[in-house]
Amino acid sequence: MDYVENILGTIGNTPMVKVNKLAEEIPGLVLAKYETFNPGNSVKDRMALTMIEDAEADGRLKPGGTIIEGTSGNTGMGLALAAVVKGYKMVCVISDKQSKEKVDILRAVGSEVVVCPTDVAPDDPRSYYSTSKRLAEETPNSWYVNQYDNPSNAKAHYQSTGPEIWKQTEGKITHFVVGVGTGGTISGVGKYLKEQNPNIKIWGIDTYGSVFKKYHETGIFDEAEIYPYVTEGIGEDILPKNVDFSIIDGFTKVTDKDAAVWTQKLAKDEGFFLGNSAGAAMKGIHQLKEHFNEDDVIVVLFHDHGSRYVGKMFNDDWMREMKYIE
Ligand SMILES: Cc1ncc(COP(=O)(O)O)c(C=O)c1O
Repeated sequence: MDYVENILGTIGNTPMVKVNKLAEEIPGLVLAKYETFNPGNSVKDRMALTMIEDAEADGRLKPGGTIIEGTSGNTGMGLALAAVVKGYKMVCVISDKQSKEKVDILRAVGSEVVVCPTDVAPDDPRSYYSTSKRLAEETPNSWYVNQYDNPSNAKAHYQSTGPEIWKQTEGKITHFVVGVGTGGTISGVGKYLKEQNPNIKIWGIDTYGSVFKKYHETGIFDEAEIYPYVTEGIGEDILPKNVDFSIIDGFTKVTDKDAAVWTQKLAKDEGFFLGNSAGAAMKGIHQLKEHFNEDDVIVVLFHDHGSRYVGKMFNDDWMREMKYIE
């Protein structure tokens, strides 16, 4: 019989799908690493499981323990699924700009959710970074995951996502394009791919309101660049240890409006029902067009599923309110 022991056995080995209409103006072949096929509908299932297994192995996470994490939703989903299967309690600390669907989904899989304000500095005691750390200190037998600085995050992508992309493209990949939040995806995949072929270019997608692009280009962490933005999952107001700037060739910044409009385009023109960072990544490929040639194989990774955005990017009233569409 062909089955896996539990739902965690279905993580990884996601398909690669050609982008057709929306890549007509892009020289080369554009392929999407389509991560919504993971059981939690996002790429984050991969690193969630690796972070838990590594913490179990070295005793940071003990039987019956409580897992605590600050998460924009997707990592929380991956952690929550693993917590259900492995018998842990899960607490997700989330910022109030995240879609309501993400909070409801986390609660649906048994997680406790604590919502914090977005518009405060990371070191403010109300921020979701500070709140998750405080809860971890106050809760007995708990483990604070810290996906930003936890090396198991990038390691998961080095061990699974990177090798899958290399194999699926038969080593022909020339560019990897992906949104950057904690940096785990770009750093793990990028490291693996550059080890196979150092000529592969690694491009990060950033947002306005985030510090990554300027820091990469100048080494300056410019607080003046930081403001609240709409795009979910990418960009940061901190420098996570998981962002390995040395393997990234460049960043391009995509506006909130473009990310939202291109999220709708992916659904309507390709049948790709995806989250808002996918829209940003696809628009980013167009912004980077002059870097590609006819023979190139460009892989873009799409992080999460459109169902998490039905109240936002897939709601035309919201799109009009935001002045993203007429
Ligand atoms: C929807 C979405 N896109 C992109 C990212 C960025 O991925 P990474 O944290 O691996 O840089 C995340 C991470 O939270 C995400 O949830």
